[in-house]
Amino acid sequence: MNVPLLFLLACILHFNSKCSATILPSSCPYPPSQWCSTLDSAVQCGVLKHCLHANLTKWHHAGEPVQIEVYYETLCPDCIMFVTQVLYPTWVLLQDILSVHLVPFGNAQEAPSGSKYIFKCQHGEQECLGNIIQTCLLNMSDNAFLIIFCMEASTDVIAAAKSCVHLYSPELSWERLMSCVNGDLGNQLMHQNAVKTNTLDPPHQFVPWVTINGEHTDDLQKKAIKSLFPLICSKYKGIKPVICGEGGHRDLRI
Ligand SMILES: *[C@@H]1O[C@H](CO)[C@@H](O)[C@H](O)[C@H]1NC(C)=O
Ligand SMILES: *[C@@H]1O[C@H](CO)[C@@H](O)[C@H](O)[C@H]1NC(C)=O
Repeated sequence: MNVPLLFLLACILHFNSKCSATILPSSCPYPPSQWCSTLDSAVQCGVLKHCLHANLTKWHHAGEPVQIEVYYETLCPDCIMFVTQVLYPTWVLLQDILSVHLVPFGNAQEAPSGSKYIFKCQHGEQECLGNIIQTCLLNMSDNAFLIIFCMEASTDVIAAAKSCVHLYSPELSWERLMSCVNGDLGNQLMHQNAVKTNTLDPPHQFVPWVTINGEHTDDLQKKAIKSLFPLICSKYKGIKPVICGEGGHRDLRI
């Protein structure tokens, strides 16, 4: 699979400020999740044909979406690479058949302290802050994945949080998010991530650690990192979307 090409394709299909060129009409005021929700939005965003087809596919060929869980931490270079160059472009293309669950915690450690928990992260306090910001986002925003991608794709992951939230979840105030981050809710949610990560079977050995439909094997992990797109296509039990190609194993080449 050609990862840079996949990334470019994702940029084209999904308006992203990081992409230097986009063919989306500038009159498209909707986030990608809403493009197909009405005829108007589909027309304005220039994706009517795609939406009509996607709607048809949904009605006639529905299967359970493939579940992917990603155990990661916000500042680990391999995690950043996976989220921005593999997971995100694959999700943009296959979001109808793919359900993404992110669990920020990774190799961090927790210890009880009174009624709360304190956390220690592999890449220091900044990473703990990034983990908890993303944990709160996952609880508070429908666009959490877009915001997390935006953060991870930025030079300074933590500093980018505020503008990424403004961009993708303008209705979520920074103050509300920070009250989660600094309060009991964030602490509890982070603890839930710790428990989820530490009860993985088999236990995680590194990050990013991937499960597909709840399962982790060396083979699945390797395929998820190297060729997630055909892996998701092949795991989907419904009629495969056209973009998967014959048998769902097509390489993306133009
Ligand atoms: C897709 O289907 C939904 C109902 O499931 C409908 O509300 C929507 O208008 C359809 N979108 C398009 C572009 O036809
Ligand atoms: C957010 O967290 C609270 C507390 O754990 C939980 O009750 C709620 O269902 C969560 N909401 C979402 C959307 O995850």
